[in-house]
Amino acid sequence: MQTDRILLRRWRDSDAESLYKYASDPEVGPRAGWPAHTSVEESLAVIREVFNNDWTWAIELKETGEAIGAMGYFPYGVSNIPIGENDVEVGYWVARPYWNQGICTEALRLMLDYCLNVLHAKEIWSDHFIGNPASGRVMQKCGFVDTGKLNHCSHLLGGDREEVKIYKLAQK
Ligand SMILES: CC(C)(COP(=O)(O)OP(=O)(O)OC[C@H]1O[C@@H](n2cnc3c(N)ncnc32)[C@H](O)[C@@H]1OP(=O)(O)O)[C@@H](O)C(=O)NCCC(=O)NCCS
Repeated sequence: MQTDRILLRRWRDSDAESLYKYASDPEVGPRAGWPAHTSVEESLAVIREVFNNDWTWAIELKETGEAIGAMGYFPYGVSNIPIGENDVEVGYWVARPYWNQGICTEALRLMLDYCLNVLHAKEIWSDHFIGNPASGRVMQKCGFVDTGKLNHCSHLLGGDREEVKIYKLAQK
């Protein structure tokens, strides 16, 4: 899946250095509910153990070939929030040097196309910590609406003190 600027592809062991460079930033992981990476070895282990599945994709910047973020869908049973058996929840992050350039919005549109037309997901959900409005803006730009529901995700880093706002893709 690609646009002129980015490619969504599987993570590779050779992405460990760039994953560490960007995921060690304390402004990235904690906003999404996971701790900043502390070593290249940890990033390699994450690639092998956490990203090694059908639903986690690297956002590659075509110009450099570097992985600058992640985009994915969580199926039923893996999602952070309660969803239906044929639904998915989407999630993402982008490296800080690339924020506010439309990259996440572009990547999420690719992922939504895949979820709807390849997975045939019934409903598509997403969520963000109340204090992370930039993520909600990405959702809105891609056609999600705020359901008004909040959820407590105690398995997320910070999930004990802050709830997530739940969004749903408005489908025609
Ligand atoms: C949220 C995140 C993925 C957005 O990535 P991005 O590539 O910068 O997103 P885009 O450029 O496509 O869109 C960002 C939008 O948020 C807006 N925005 C940025 N900061 C904002 C803020 N504090 N409040 C409200 N909107 C904000 C931008 O203006 C832009 O909207 P616009 O196009 O209408 O101007 C990125 O900031 C990130 O990785 N953050 C840390 C991890 C994270 O939060 N992941 C999501 C967990 S739910």
